Amino acid sequence: MTVFDADGIAAQRDAAYYELFTDWRRDTDFFATVARRIGGPILELGCGTGRITIPIAQAGIDIDGIDIAPERLRIARQAAERLSPTTPVRFFPADIRKFSLDNTYRLALFPYRVLQELTTTTDKIDCLRCVHDHLDRGGFVLVDNYCPSVAYLATDPDSCTTTSEKHGPAGEHIRRTQRVISRNHADQTQQLEVVYDITDPDGTTEHLVIPYQTSYIFRLELEHLLARYGFTMTEIWGGYEFQDFGTDPPGELIVLAQRVDRSS
Ligand SMILES: C[S@@+](CC[C@H](N)C(=O)[O-])C[C@H]1O[C@@H](n2cnc3c(N)ncnc32)[C@H](O)[C@@H]1O
Repeated sequence: MTVFDADGIAAQRDAAYYELFTDWRRDTDFFATVARRIGGPILELGCGTGRITIPIAQAGIDIDGIDIAPERLRIARQAAERLSPTTPVRFFPADIRKFSLDNTYRLALFPYRVLQELTTTTDKIDCLRCVHDHLDRGGFVLVDNYCPSVAYLATDPDSCTTTSEKHGPAGEHIRRTQRVISRNHADQTQQLEVVYDITDPDGTTEHLVIPYQTSYIFRLELEHLLARYGFTMTEIWGGYEFQDFGTDPPGELIVLAQRVDRSS
């Protein structure tokens, strides 16, 4: 049986398995270090299941997370409920392109390519405008993107398929395949698909397909985009060990920028 995302079953499975299939990432300490260095309160844009939000809150730093996906937020809230009630974390459903919160922040975080999930310049600008409006004077924004090499963009999408297999909490076997369906170089977007093939211990199978899109943003574009909404780049790294950008391309493009107030 094939179930598409619209009916919510695929979204539930995808949220439930999200952290299982992101366990290869080694970015939590990086974000926690920057969070400690700059201090709170912090806003995480596209916080998902709270993978980054929760460890920062556990370090005693005030953090709010917003996300558009209810199933991911449900998991984030469940994780927060297991913490001490004084842990300074809150989760809100919101679209990062248009949100209004009752707080302002010292740092806004975009961990794991969240800005790339916005596929038009208008969406990115709307998001950065909202972030700017929610930052304290002199506050910071940290954008964590993936910058593809030109060689990668020229490869056949069929050669970019990745597959991994895990066992879920109920003993089910999960095969997760991520495919690039197509690229549109004119608007710098990729159409992708995540497919879950799940086999329960009793032999029941599920085939779930989740289509999604991302955009790719180059280093200078990111600088211009940030400048357009009143941010000036203060640091740039190429990975979660704070290494220089460009030492290992293609790779992470992580930019820390500060809110500039022209009137000040
Ligand atoms: C790759 S995940 C990153 C999640 C989390 N930051 C992490 O590092 O694990 C991207 C997240 O962005 C969220 N997202 C995408 N578009 C969004 C939007 N317009 N508004 C709010 N959240 C959005 C998705 O629901 C997803 O949880």
